[in-house]
Amino acid sequence: MSSFLLNENRTHYCGEVSLSDDGKDVVLMGWVCRRRDHGGVIFVDLRDRTGIVQVVFNPDAGKALHVEAHKIRSEFVLAVRGKVRQRPPGMENPDLETGKIEVMVSELKILNESKTPPFSLDDENISENLRLKYRYLDLRRPAIQNNLILRSKIAAATRNYFDNHGFIEVETPFLTKSTPEGARDYLVPSRIYKGMFYALPQSPQIFKQLLMVSGFDRYYQIVKCFRDEDLRADRQPEFTQIDVEMSFITEEHIMTLMEGLMTQIFEKCFDRELPLPFPRISYHDAVNFYGKDNPDLRFGMKLTDLSEIMGNTGFKLFREVIASGGVVKAIKAEKCSSLSRKDLDDLAVFVIPFGAKGLAWARINQNDWTSPIFKYFKPEEVAKINDAMQASVGDIVFFVADTRRIVHDSLGNLRLHLAEKLNLIKKDDMHFSWITQFPLLEYSEIEKRYVSMHHPFTSPFLEDISLLDTQPQKVRARAYDLVLNGSEIGGGSIRIHRKDLQSKVFQVLGLTEDDSRSKFGFLLDALEYGTPPHGGIAVGLDRLTMLLAQAESIRDVIAFPKTQKAACLLSDAPSKVDIQQLIELSLKIV
Ligand code: AMO
Ligand code: AMP
Repeated sequence: MSSFLLNENRTHYCGEVSLSDDGKDVVLMGWVCRRRDHGGVIFVDLRDRTGIVQVVFNPDAGKALHVEAHKIRSEFVLAVRGKVRQRPPGMENPDLETGKIEVMVSELKILNESKTPPFSLDDENISENLRLKYRYLDLRRPAIQNNLILRSKIAAATRNYFDNHGFIEVETPFLTKSTPEGARDYLVPSRIYKGMFYALPQSPQIFKQLLMVSGFDRYYQIVKCFRDEDLRADRQPEFTQIDVEMSFITEEHIMTLMEGLMTQIFEKCFDRELPLPFPRISYHDAVNFYGKDNPDLRFGMKLTDLSEIMGNTGFKLFREVIASGGVVKAIKAEKCSSLSRKDLDDLAVFVIPFGAKGLAWARINQNDWTSPIFKYFKPEEVAKINDAMQASVGDIVFFVADTRRIVHDSLGNLRLHLAEKLNLIKKDDMHFSWITQFPLLEYSEIEKRYVSMHHPFTSPFLEDISLLDTQPQKVRARAYDLVLNGSEIGGGSIRIHRKDLQSKVFQVLGLTEDDSRSKFGFLLDALEYGTPPHGGIAVGLDRLTMLLAQAESIRDVIAFPKTQKAACLLSDAPSKVDIQQLIELSLKIV
């Protein structure tokens, strides 16, 4: 139609037209979200990334315009010129930011047509696979667009914060050597060096330490990492870290710095303050009280150790577990008369996958319990247990007896499950905490050796170094995790900066001199040239965004994510390659 409806003539974004524009001429560009034909008058909801505005085609505006308007279908791209007017009384739409106004169109240009989309962009119940195949359409949905806009704001606040704190952004290579974050590597064959491979970095760990050796003092990078591991709702094969390293610092410096970053992000993205400092909880306490090293602290329901009391009661099953080195712990759900007998049976089934052999429960009454195990206890034992649990009438106490690990696993997960079932978590609650004093090592039954809990460059507590030879499992690490609402969003440590200590730790990890040289020789060499004391952290940007956006899956905050099976349904990656490419790389598929 008219030639002057070109992009540069756009006067407003759709979501930004407001009552203050009443009477003004505007030019808008956007996609057709919905079109309703009310016997002559045609209403179109026009959408762009800022929102939706109603544009109206009135037959009075001319025949040619109306003929053109009749062609409009969902997801067509339009340019319209029109006059803003306040909607007639009773026609306002309170669900729409622009619901008080509409635009009476005088000119229309259909900039492009669209096939009928394979799914309605309004429908919340579309299969994720279909959405991922047509991701460019899925990304038009406001919910998911808002997630990516939030992600961009978080990244901008992060860059700004580190820039203001004297950090230098340095890029590190993607084609590199295997790095030690404990997952499987993605390998890239070398064409020039036949039979040799690069590994994509699981993190820039070694390079950022080398930058400290080089004297950069404060480094950060928002960087892709690659890990071939089993995927879950909060894991992707390629994901993004906010990666940080600093020299001449202690744990407290890093924690305070990152608290400042989170504060800045909350300010910029939500105009909301965070209570500081974040609580610091030792690994030991986290596991003992919450059953997990990433405790959700938005609600209470701590695990209480009843082993001492239970060791001397009439309940043989519990006595025997304790006699054989196990523990009995319990959690208390307060005032939950809503739980039926069937619910309680379901909860007993819930804990089975975590290894529990049973879930005993006791509904607290005025003078006794309603409980399958009430009969085993004397009245004074019941009183002691009530007392230890600080239980009152209407509460239900859940007990698990087993090895420490099984008790923590089952009660730790039951605690989360109950919080959800009983609606104990407020939607907007954001609870950060630091978990500290991790063990340096854990024994791997599969590998029959000690492995690093964090990574092998993590410094032990200096006062624990002498235990490396005698009781390695007791050595504490100078490591810290940042936890938000029960998710580990970041982890880091003070590093080893002395070659002798690094060699010692490699030795405890069962690496031979040759192994450690071939894997990390370049780091060991660098440690001999004046390495400053240093440490750092990495925060998972995808995970952080997912929690702040209150998204269900990490895929909802990544523009082009992989499925749970590591496939990209949009591009069909991974895919076969030409035989010619394989020949060039000297590769043969077996
Ligand atoms: P770590 O392995 O703990 O530490 O990783 C840091 C953070 O990255 C996020 N993350 C992931 N996010 C999505 N998908 C994944 N597959 C995935 N794996 C990890 C988590 C995690 O807390 N080099 C060390 C950091 C350091 O010591 O400075 C490291 O990578 O939120
Ligand atoms: P009874 O039916 O009299 O044997 O009572 C046993 C009760 O204890 C049942 O409610 C079981 O679910 C529960 N129970 C069995 N084993 C365990 C265990 N290891 N920890 C906690 N409760 C258990």
